[in-house]
Amino acid sequence: MRHHLTEAGRGADGQAAEQPGKRSGENKSYGNLIGGHEVGSPGSFLSRNSSRLDDVIGQFPEATKEQVREACFEARRAFAAWSKTPAPIRGQLIGSIGKALEREKEALSGLVTREMGKTLKEARGSVQEAIDTCHFFQSEGRRLYGQTVPSEMPRKELTTYRRPLGVVGIVTAGNFPIAVPAWKIIPALLTGNTIVWKPSEDAPAVAYAFAKLIEEAGVPGGVLNVVFGGGADAAGAFLVEMMDEGLLDKFAFTGSTKVGRHIGEVAGRNLLHPTLELGGKNPLIVMRDADLDNAVQGALFSAFGTGGQRCTSAGNIIVDEPIYREFRDLFLEQVKRIGIGDPNRHDGVLYGPFINQRFFDNWERHYQWGEQDGAKLLYGKGRITSGNAPAGFVGDASAALYGWPTVWEEVKPGMTLFQTEVFGPTVNLVKVDGIDEAIATANAVDYGLSSAIYTNNREWAHAFKEGIEAGMSSINNTTTGAEAHMPFGGVKGSGNGTRESGIWVIDFYTYWHGVNDDVSGRLQLAQMDTAYVEPKAEVSVKGLF
Ligand code: UN1
Repeated sequence: MRHHLTEAGRGADGQAAEQPGKRSGENKSYGNLIGGHEVGSPGSFLSRNSSRLDDVIGQFPEATKEQVREACFEARRAFAAWSKTPAPIRGQLIGSIGKALEREKEALSGLVTREMGKTLKEARGSVQEAIDTCHFFQSEGRRLYGQTVPSEMPRKELTTYRRPLGVVGIVTAGNFPIAVPAWKIIPALLTGNTIVWKPSEDAPAVAYAFAKLIEEAGVPGGVLNVVFGGGADAAGAFLVEMMDEGLLDKFAFTGSTKVGRHIGEVAGRNLLHPTLELGGKNPLIVMRDADLDNAVQGALFSAFGTGGQRCTSAGNIIVDEPIYREFRDLFLEQVKRIGIGDPNRHDGVLYGPFINQRFFDNWERHYQWGEQDGAKLLYGKGRITSGNAPAGFVGDASAALYGWPTVWEEVKPGMTLFQTEVFGPTVNLVKVDGIDEAIATANAVDYGLSSAIYTNNREWAHAFKEGIEAGMSSINNTTTGAEAHMPFGGVKGSGNGTRESGIWVIDFYTYWHGVNDDVSGRLQLAQMDTAYVEPKAEVSVKGLF
């Protein structure tokens, strides 16, 4: 969790800056990584342990616009050699990054838990997702296939090549501080691009560690540059502005739809095609024939895993009328038992604290939306404090921002609660009658990232696959947990059609170069000098017999 030194001694999290950290992190300061050098900035902020706000992890710089620009120049300089490094060698470097991540997996996972607050089990999973990404792309360096294409003229060869785009600006969120950056950085590097990355201000230490492991693998200085900072008039915004200065050839962003639209506009006027992975209000349908125990477990993790702070978290649980009551009661029973609190605890903690004050404030505000919408609050009592904690809470509630698992019912399409992504531990129960209404309701949001259905009816599952407006769908599994080699991305307000991961992502970090190689030694013009063969006189089959 970030903490500004510059805000008159108080950070966005309300903690007093002068309060000494319990560990030595406050004295450890880290720089931007620009052109292979560590460079400090005039301003700085503290990164804190999300589940113990008095534990300072380190002090990070607020990169200036000039430094962000310099990082772009360094990336441009490094591009010449990096783009000409043979792709299999770049792949070998990706393999070394994977090995370094594997070696450091435990330490990195611990850092992810400490800094952003997800449970150790989930943190290990997210580091593994980055490792899997390296494994996948390591060999892709030997497979960056182009095509040989027959020419319409003799002694002429046609071939296609994938070419790197150039310098990529990357801005990422704090909820998956290593997996999601890896989805962008690893394929961008593999295909020969260089990078300026502005990681989330909520997880700068994880970003710094990742960048140091990339450096360890032998990636040359200037190929990956990291600039830190957060807020409206800071490094991320400066990096976006670099598109207008002509210093970037590609932009990749994970975050809110609002910011994504802005980045899309700036990229559009510069004729760049940005990768935009944006918000979601993901539906999970439970049909009357579903295995209810399985559905309850799936709904529980989809809604409350990571404290609802995944872009793939379920926002609306759409339940078929005949089993509505039964499902609701079973679900509620489980919600009341959720373990919440210290994410380092192995004893059944499902989710830890909020990643930052902004997410907490937004989640707190959603109680008002529900009231104004006329929805029924089934469970949840706002912020968890020592005097207001659910039975499953473990740890020190006053040490961080924790929220009650919250469940609403009588929610309907059109309500703010139904339409708006909250990014916190809350979910809506929406009653429908039958598969057609279920799918129509699932589609009645402005987003289309992930989705799920619980049913054993093949026809209903098929209707869902065909009718759902989403980039990702699960049948009898959660809305979360996309595997690292499947295309990740959404439709509608969740993105612009780009995909991350697997073979699909390569299209978004390369352009196709078509080459004509003519060895005939004479001018032969396509379409005009082509030796087309004229058909002979028409043959009538009837006339033959
Ligand atoms: C995100 O929340 O931005 O599918 C990414 C999932 C994870 C990634 C989530 N593999 O839930």
